[in-house]
Amino acid sequence: MPEFALGVAAVVAAVDVVLAALAASGPAIAAPMTPPVSSEPATAPPTRILLIGFMLFTSFFVAMEPAWRRMPFETMTNSARLPSDGRLLGWNQMAVEAPPRQLTDFLRSLRAVREFQRKPVPDDTVQDILEVARWSGSASNRQFGQIILVRQRATLEALGSLPGYAGHLRGAALAMVLVMPGEWLEGETFDEGRLAERIMLGAWAHGVGSSIGWFAPEGRDKAKRILGVPGKPVVRTAISLGYPARAPRRGLRKPINDLVFEERYRAS
Ligand SMILES: Cc1cc2nc3c(=O)[nH]c(=O)nc-3n(C[C@H](O)[C@H](O)[C@H](O)COP(=O)(O)O)c2cc1C
Repeated sequence: MPEFALGVAAVVAAVDVVLAALAASGPAIAAPMTPPVSSEPATAPPTRILLIGFMLFTSFFVAMEPAWRRMPFETMTNSARLPSDGRLLGWNQMAVEAPPRQLTDFLRSLRAVREFQRKPVPDDTVQDILEVARWSGSASNRQFGQIILVRQRATLEALGSLPGYAGHLRGAALAMVLVMPGEWLEGETFDEGRLAERIMLGAWAHGVGSSIGWFAPEGRDKAKRILGVPGKPVVRTAISLGYPARAPRRGLRKPINDLVFEERYRAS
């Protein structure tokens, strides 16, 4: 606070110097046209107040700018603070701290990981992944999806043994199972995909591998029973998570020309 008071005093002094200079130069330039000198000050008090206000305002923004650049995005948008470990980037720091090619290389490197080390994933990493999921976009921002965090080995074993393609849950350090309301198939399915991808990317940012696992239709009610989900919601997607047991495969993708068309669709 003493620094702030000193700053204000300095600004006021600077304004007075500027105003004194203006007052000294003013009448000389305007002399032939101006009426006789009155006892009024050359610059009226409101102008002084405005100048002081302007200088204080700009100094405040100049002083605060570096702090705002470091502020986590959440702090700018939501009163709920993230458990920050200092690795979070401020909302406008991306271009500065991570070159775009580095970011797109990271996005492109995401592969399905289905074999995991027997090593727990730390809680703050899990929380960070969940925060990425929480900020997923959804149709009309209705935020349909909910997530059940499963860490108990017996539950992972039981889910991994259900009909479907989620056997990798058995070896995972933990799982995130998506619960969708089951009211609007089209919107919710899109949402479910976005959530799953976000979880996988958030995890990969921490070096945690993951894979989607789908329960077959006949496994979904059983999954709901295991997890205590009553009524209408759909439990179809589980995501296994854990540190990869081996380097992920490079993967295969169709050539870009079979995927993208310029302006008009080209039938093959
Ligand atoms: C909608 C959807 C459902 C999937 N279901 C399963 C699944 O049930 N079990 C599984 O092991 N992987 C599943 N996957 C993962 C895919 O097999 C994987 O994304 C694909 O083989 C590409 O793998 P890669 O990125 O490692 O190259 C699913 C992926 C998507 C998008």
